[in-house]
Amino acid sequence: MPKKKEVIEFKIEESEFGGKAYGYIDGVKVKVKHGIPGQVVKAVVKKAKRKEAEAKILEVIENSPLEDQDTCSHFGRCGGCFQQAIAYEKQLELKEKQVKDLFVEFNVQYKEWLGIEGSPEPFNYRNKMEFSFGDEEKGGPLTLGMHKRGRHHDIVTVDECRIMDEDFRKILVTILQYFKEKNLSQYNTRRHEGYLRHLVVRKAHFAGEILINLVTTTQEKLDLKDLVEELLGFELKGKIIGFLHTFNDNLADVVQSDRTDILFGRDYLMEELLGLKFKISAFSFFQTNSQGAEKLYSIVRDFVGESEEQVVFDLYCGTGTIGQIVAPTAKQVIGIEIIEDAVEAAKENAKLNNLNNCRFIAGDVKEEVKKLKEKPDIIILDPPRAGIHPNALKDVMSFEAEKIVYVSCNPKTMVRDLVELEGRGYKVEQVKCMDMFPHTAHVECVVLIEKE
Ligand SMILES: C[S@@+](CC[C@H](N)C(=O)[O-])C[C@H]1O[C@@H](n2cnc3c(N)ncnc32)[C@H](O)[C@@H]1O
Repeated sequence: MPKKKEVIEFKIEESEFGGKAYGYIDGVKVKVKHGIPGQVVKAVVKKAKRKEAEAKILEVIENSPLEDQDTCSHFGRCGGCFQQAIAYEKQLELKEKQVKDLFVEFNVQYKEWLGIEGSPEPFNYRNKMEFSFGDEEKGGPLTLGMHKRGRHHDIVTVDECRIMDEDFRKILVTILQYFKEKNLSQYNTRRHEGYLRHLVVRKAHFAGEILINLVTTTQEKLDLKDLVEELLGFELKGKIIGFLHTFNDNLADVVQSDRTDILFGRDYLMEELLGLKFKISAFSFFQTNSQGAEKLYSIVRDFVGESEEQVVFDLYCGTGTIGQIVAPTAKQVIGIEIIEDAVEAAKENAKLNNLNNCRFIAGDVKEEVKKLKEKPDIIILDPPRAGIHPNALKDVMSFEAEKIVYVSCNPKTMVRDLVELEGRGYKVEQVKCMDMFPHTAHVECVVLIEKE
């Protein structure tokens, strides 16, 4: 039996949703992060119980036969993707099985399993990147990119990242070089000193618009006019329509705004999906794979089916994308979203799309849903990774809607909620997975649930 701190060698047999994989030692299941089935690894045991242990990979002794693809130069160091060495078709098989395994583990029955759809573009698909300024090792040169795998403070410059939009690579290199020449310091997340924090780049893939947001503290004063001009002079596939400067003196290492100045253009993007227009404000949620989003929303639209004369609730609606996609045939759509900015955008989007049967409410679903007087025929749920708050789920179930379409980027919390729904007389009719995030551990899942 594996013991804590023991160094063990074993073969990885299976992977599970969320990036973990496992093998067995003396009949004990040993789980590791970022293992690939088929690898033989050396690992140190971190936690050991009678039937299950957790370990950390120290070395891959033998590669998996699945790892037969060329990878980018950052692969292994960057914490972004970990499955790039696996052929995309095989990644899809693994993800589908991981979701299926969750249904088995939670004993959730379904009528029809509709498989998995791949991202239309397995590379260059990310339309939003949130880069951090830092260094790769303490005191090293300025870097701009993603967190190093397994490290909180070290940052790898990802100028050859293959999953992001290709324009972002040029923008990243230019901005990094500019600040290197100016000799400006990165923000130190332990000492809370320094100027450069994050760079957020977003692109409306179909419309081609690019929005750049530089996030710094207020510890320096800098005129960024020459940087903006340099970037605007660039030959890019898309077009820079806005350059923002956000000031953030908060201690938490997340992108947030104390104040945002527009240095050039405007502070939002316009995108078109499935023939509808969407205004995306700087801080609101939008699917990070635009071509994938069209596929995902088409699956949702198919699951919603006939919505003529129906009242549809779009809960956790973001900028109101899903609600508006079903609105043309529905009687009424009511969306709830916690980010006010996104709700404002949703309202504007509905106007832009000439939809006058949509109402969007700013607030927590847990508080707002119980205030609704309307009776929904269809409820669409698209919660964040943490899933639906138990009280909100109770309120959702008490509407007794005939149909629920659950869209989830975290099938683990989704199956937990499905168990509750089954307990209230709902049955899972159809399940379909959609890979919006190639090469990473994530996958999106859409489930059609109906009242028995
Ligand atoms: C996965 S996104 C879905 C957005 C939208 N359906 C789309 O496809 O663009 C989840 C959304 O839920 C919002 N959210 C998170 N917690 C919430 C809560 N408690 N109440 C309402 N909205 C919430 C987030 O801001 C985010 O916009």
